Amino acid sequence: MSHLQIFPVTGSHHPLPHFASNDPALITAELAQRGIGFERWPARVELPAGADAAAVLAAYATEIKRVQSKGTYPTVDAIRMTPEHPDREALRQKFLSEHTHSEDEVRFFVEGQGLFCLHIGDEVLQVLCEADDWISVPAGTKHWFDMGNSPQFCAIRFFDNPDGWVAQFTGEAIAEQFPLLDEKTLHGG
Ligand SMILES: [Fe+2]
Repeated sequence: MSHLQIFPVTGSHHPLPHFASNDPALITAELAQRGIGFERWPARVELPAGADAAAVLAAYATEIKRVQSKGTYPTVDAIRMTPEHPDREALRQKFLSEHTHSEDEVRFFVEGQGLFCLHIGDEVLQVLCEADDWISVPAGTKHWFDMGNSPQFCAIRFFDNPDGWVAQFTGEAIAEQFPLLDEKTLHGG
């Protein structure tokens, strides 16, 4: 289930959250106050698990068009990550340190899950995104992402320019002060 926890940035390890909810309406409202887009899209029952990218993009064509009409996202693709992926650990580590991008990071989870961690002002927001969750992180937002030790997800990605989509690392050792995906799911969210 989608889940949001909001922590203070205290400089100590594992601070306690001052907000936690798995109510999609509350999650949307808290994130909207901080400029982050969050929506739940209706599941496509006709879409089989393990569907290929073309089928995934076709199933969500209406929502994709709506998102594209509101931002500069000419390129859309669908990717799948599995626990057997040979580069899973390298791919995981790549985005596990705090970074920014010069364009929005916009994702929709078709299957599985991933943990978005957003460092906004003196707070860290951890958004556990699961199937049917759409999230839009504006350009310049400090964040990190954890797909876990055994990554399993299919996600639609919206790009301005996929060739230019690179991470600028902040060099701040903040990510390790907060829980990772596996800790959150082991403890029931
Ligand atoms: Fe990122």
